[in-house]
Amino acid sequence: MNDSPGTDPAPDTAPAAAPELFTWEFATDPYPAYAWLREHSPVHRTKLPSGVEAWLVTRYADARQALADTRLSKNPAHHAGSANAKGKTGIPGERKAELMTHLLNIDPPDHTRLRRLVSKAFTPRRVAEFAPRVQELTDRLIDGFIEEGKADLIHDFAFPLPIYAICDLLGVPREDQDDFRDWAGMMIRHGGGPRGGVARSVKKMRGYLAELIHRKRENPGDDLISGLIRASDHGEHLSENEAAAMAFILLFAGFETTVNLIGNGTYALLRNPSQRERLERSLAAGETDLLATGIEELLRYDGPVELATWRYATEPVTLGGRAIAAGDPVLVVLAAADRDPERFQDADTLDLARSDNQHLGYGHGIHYCLGAPLARLEGQVALATLLRRLPDLRLAADPADLRWRGGLIMRGLRTLPVEFGPGH
Ligand code: HEM
Repeated sequence: MNDSPGTDPAPDTAPAAAPELFTWEFATDPYPAYAWLREHSPVHRTKLPSGVEAWLVTRYADARQALADTRLSKNPAHHAGSANAKGKTGIPGERKAELMTHLLNIDPPDHTRLRRLVSKAFTPRRVAEFAPRVQELTDRLIDGFIEEGKADLIHDFAFPLPIYAICDLLGVPREDQDDFRDWAGMMIRHGGGPRGGVARSVKKMRGYLAELIHRKRENPGDDLISGLIRASDHGEHLSENEAAAMAFILLFAGFETTVNLIGNGTYALLRNPSQRERLERSLAAGETDLLATGIEELLRYDGPVELATWRYATEPVTLGGRAIAAGDPVLVVLAAADRDPERFQDADTLDLARSDNQHLGYGHGIHYCLGAPLARLEGQVALATLLRRLPDLRLAADPADLRWRGGLIMRGLRTLPVEFGPGH
């Protein structure tokens, strides 16, 4: 399926028929462009809207290989253009590197050490124990709009749920959580880098977390921040700065992704009524298997992460038959890989019961999503509760009128207007 390594048959520029990327049409439905790339230029050199040239990797096998390749670094210092561009490539995450060092822009051995420490505090068990609270938050948000018979499921539901959930888990007191909602709202609305209002929001969030960590050190509880402070490995601890960076990345990496899992997932269910009915029947019968496979399938089918998995070649690398030079940025397009017909049968079909589903929605290798258990929990509780409590849930807009946030980092709807019958 791939060209054999070492050959370089494709010309350095794509054939003339290459689809235009990063347009409004692309943001609305990138999948035809991804299909073209997989077929004709699976490791594709392109110019990002920021002007930086990068490689897009769209086939499943290449994507999986790239994510696990130790010659592809997460550290933006390896970007060849960083000296000229003062480190600003416009590639997602890189600008944040100026603010901090965290799991998503470091390599082993630092990554191994930090990941081991945070894993001691952010355990699957802590997440499992958090399930009743996620249910409570979900119900409270639905209570807020159920009488209306209509809602914008992004603004009223998918957006606030993950932010309140992670704040609770970290140990941010309830009375301060609406500040986080405002700061996160600023970040999600304006995206991009730390300019103006976004910069102020990032600064306030980090300032707040640093102070909270300081307080928790004096006065620990059983929350995740206290767990991060307590975590030790062979006598090593996280410094206060590292704990603050860690808390921030948990918020940052786990927020917009989960908003879009819930938003894209609900939208996909509304657009696939037979799948949705099947899920409703299964939930009504008290089963949870289809819900569990269904959330994975929704992630595969229309996952939140598009190009946010940047890497930089530390030495020349051949991928899919293309020669990638040292210093070149490589973007693994998870959403394209997860629709690869070479890997998934009927790849463009939503099949909630799909069992052979090793999708790349949470990444692969050492940077595999640390928050996957929490994301799964939130996704499952959110969708099951929406379907149970809001009978006859339906889209209240023409799909052609829905607006998607411009691609490149995350794929998600700006609004998701719905109507429903009298709920309970
Ligand atoms: C890493 C996706 C939710 C925390 C990743 C990566 C992906 C991903 C693709 C790997 C990036 C790469 O290799 O470059 C998602 C999706 C989510 C989600 C689709 C929701 C549906 C969360 C949540 C949290 C979280 C809820 C935490 C509260 C992290 C962290 C990393 C990460 C800390 C970095 C891990 C490392 O570098 O070792 N996520 N994520 N994520 N995610 Fe998630």
